[in-house]
Amino acid sequence: MPYTDEAHVRAEAAAPVALVERYRQVRQGSLSRVAPLSPEDQQVQSMPDASPAKWHLAHVTWFFETFLLIPHLAGYRPFDPTFSYLFNSYYEAVGPRHPRPARGLVTRPALAEVMAYRRHVDAAMERLLARGVQGEIAFLVALGLAHEEQHQELILMDVLHLLAQSPLNPAYGPGHRPSRGGPLEWVRFEGGCVAVGAGPGVGFTFDNEGPRHDTLLRPYRMANRLVTNREWLSFVEAGGYQTPEFWLSDGWARVREEGWTAPLYWRRVDGDWREFTLAGLDALDLDAPVLHVSYYEADAYAAWAGKRLPTEAEWEHAASTLPGALSQLYDAAWQWTASAYLRYPGFSPARGAVGEYNGKFMMGQMTLRGGACVTPPGHSRSSYRNFFYPHQRWMFSGVRLAEDAPEATGEEVLTDPTAAFRHDVAEALSRSPKSIAPKWFYDARGSQLFEAICELPEYYLTRVETALLKRIAPQLAAHIPSGAALVEYGSGASAKTRLILDAAPQLTVYAPIDISVSALEAAAAAIRRDYPALIVEPLARDFTLAEAVPKALAGCRRIGFFPGSTIGNFDPVEAVRLLAGARALMGEGGLLILGADLVKEPAVLTAAYDDAAGVTAAFNKNLLARINRELGSDFVLDAFEHRAIWNAVESRIEMHLVSKTAQTVHAAGRAFRFAAHESLHTENSYKFTVEDVTGMARRAGWRLIDRWISPPPAFAVFLFG
Ligand code: AVI
Repeated sequence: MPYTDEAHVRAEAAAPVALVERYRQVRQGSLSRVAPLSPEDQQVQSMPDASPAKWHLAHVTWFFETFLLIPHLAGYRPFDPTFSYLFNSYYEAVGPRHPRPARGLVTRPALAEVMAYRRHVDAAMERLLARGVQGEIAFLVALGLAHEEQHQELILMDVLHLLAQSPLNPAYGPGHRPSRGGPLEWVRFEGGCVAVGAGPGVGFTFDNEGPRHDTLLRPYRMANRLVTNREWLSFVEAGGYQTPEFWLSDGWARVREEGWTAPLYWRRVDGDWREFTLAGLDALDLDAPVLHVSYYEADAYAAWAGKRLPTEAEWEHAASTLPGALSQLYDAAWQWTASAYLRYPGFSPARGAVGEYNGKFMMGQMTLRGGACVTPPGHSRSSYRNFFYPHQRWMFSGVRLAEDAPEATGEEVLTDPTAAFRHDVAEALSRSPKSIAPKWFYDARGSQLFEAICELPEYYLTRVETALLKRIAPQLAAHIPSGAALVEYGSGASAKTRLILDAAPQLTVYAPIDISVSALEAAAAAIRRDYPALIVEPLARDFTLAEAVPKALAGCRRIGFFPGSTIGNFDPVEAVRLLAGARALMGEGGLLILGADLVKEPAVLTAAYDDAAGVTAAFNKNLLARINRELGSDFVLDAFEHRAIWNAVESRIEMHLVSKTAQTVHAAGRAFRFAAHESLHTENSYKFTVEDVTGMARRAGWRLIDRWISPPPAFAVFLFG
């Protein structure tokens, strides 16, 4: 509950000056919003849902007078006793009030008197705040300011509706344009049992945002941006507003009753679509997000598009776990959710008359999440619950689509690797402790640096494994049937691949699997050049997900080749999953040649991952350079230290990037804090016993055929069938 939000209350008590300053800024914000308006503009009420700007200015002032000054400032003299009746919005506990649809008929007090009322209340509020406020009073001040910010948004919604009634299409003024989204991407969230809602200690929140509670989410995907006018136009042109099957029954009734054919402010002028905005009547901006649509329209659009609206729990989970992957969260349009605006489990309204603020509306309305281009900056947050009736559309409301997530495939990663990278980086830096999958090391520069590592005196793995393979290649070849395909995990084309190809000329197909299309193509080209008789079939996919047999390999016996101890870069559970995937892919009669590095003295291991020339350090730090290059981040490479440690309990070398100082880094559109000495864990390289490897392979459905161990430093090659 906000009343018990101690962190917030303590901050207010400790810093009265800051609170006075914030009070002044918010109050001035309302005056700035009405500055472009004439007194006449501020008088008129264009429909019962809207209010005159003059009424908003007076009502937010009444809120401070009623809930703070009268009860808490000794000797306060109300400005005018009739204002309690005129400017009470809906508080039954405060007394009777003027009917909402007749607010525009209140021509007296004049605008100048409302401005004098504001000054009177501001002077008294300054006296109250100068004392330093805490506890419930501090909460009420925060509530009054958040309330005034909400009315600042209402002022622009209502002014737009008002000006839209004029035959002259007058402009309010420039600014307040919704941000644009980029190309459409689908961001996957695994969900599970997740906590949503505002808990204590997070600063001011409305009572309706809590309590924080668990909810179960199935895996889902969320659009990274809002639906655009261009997309909405396709819906319009496809007869969306004329086709009942897309619509909820109540929605379809509204379409017919009110004659909807497009969003609220779209206009057809001389055969072209225009949109009435705060800047006047503009050509319809096709790349801007669609605005001013009702819940019914949002739902019908989603049905037409074969998607759905996100639930509010999905929206909050997505926006709080991966904000960097989603654009237009708070600066374009409020986003309709599929959730009714209801009490959260355990909800109780704030105490006193302000308990009427949110709770009594928890029936019949739908929740919107995010924020809009007319929302005061910083006003909203991921737990914020806005709510409107499903037919209303004068607010700045738009649509973000969602869908149930299909089974994970490599496709998402392949269709947009940058989106996947951004997604993983944001997730990596948000979790505690920070960690990222080592696959992101391998951009072009990272692959070059890895090649250089393989040449280092300390990095024995490549040298030792190559020598071992050279020695045992004839024995391996003896198991390979004629006409078989060699399926290499990773791009291959290395000396190791050639050793197998040379020893087993009966292989007719070579199929490297790799997520990196460029690495694959280079490898395939090199092998084609040197082995002209071989059919080369590169498979562009994440090899951890490759389970279905590609057509090119369907007719032949398949020999998996997984050298380099890359299996050690997966944790044991993932490794078994990977080996089981390979078992399925190699199929009946298939084989697997697997290279694995063995446990040995820690000094040998740590030297291999922390070489004297600093190549491994550069390889590790290239990850940060890659994040900077591809995601426009601001990592300072020198502010991080490469560290390689032997974790004897887990039997693995760990690579870390350790922050030398406390610092904030901006990546994937967000700020991330690093404490001094905090680490980003970048890689595990498990080291095995022979039994570890055979045990994992057995669990994955493989049977050991043979195994060979090199002279020290020990490295093993296994043949499974
Ligand atoms: C690719 N992989 C097996 C290497 C390893 O040894 O874990 C990657 C590497 N990391 C640091 N040096 C090499």
